[in-house]
Amino acid sequence: MTKNTQARLLRAARTASARAYAPFSKLKVGAAVLTADGRIFSGCNIENSSFGLTVCAERVAIFKAVSAGQLDIKAVAIFAESPQSAIVNRKSPIPGLTPPCGACLQVINEFSENPEVALSNGRSTKTYRLKELLPFGFRLSRPEQ
Ligand code: THU
Repeated sequence: MTKNTQARLLRAARTASARAYAPFSKLKVGAAVLTADGRIFSGCNIENSSFGLTVCAERVAIFKAVSAGQLDIKAVAIFAESPQSAIVNRKSPIPGLTPPCGACLQVINEFSENPEVALSNGRSTKTYRLKELLPFGFRLSRPEQ
């Protein structure tokens, strides 16, 4: 992805993170995906009093894209700036950055071919390929549509 595209995606992710509904974890996450038609779809995490119903920012963004008819994700950006993320990732090789959870990696995998995944907290940004984060993503072959 070009620097310009990455900057646009990260801006969209950051804007979305401000709308996170995260009263319980206080971890506000924003995600943005670039689809094959050049559009950007963004989402934030949405928590629930019944904790297991919480949905991550990445899945909100992807489900918005898919429900708009865009099934081909070219790039992903995730923004999270929170004291919580630093604590959660204290022993991480990417301290202060919030990588997508396993469930979201699997959902990204369903609608993409090894896209770049940019992680940012506003101070630092690191870019990975999906396969680095999820080397053995599960896929069923899709019947011809
Ligand atoms: N969260 C995301 O939005 N994306 C991730 O990939 C990791 C976790 C959210 C879900 C929940 O609202 C909060 O972070 C703490 O788990």
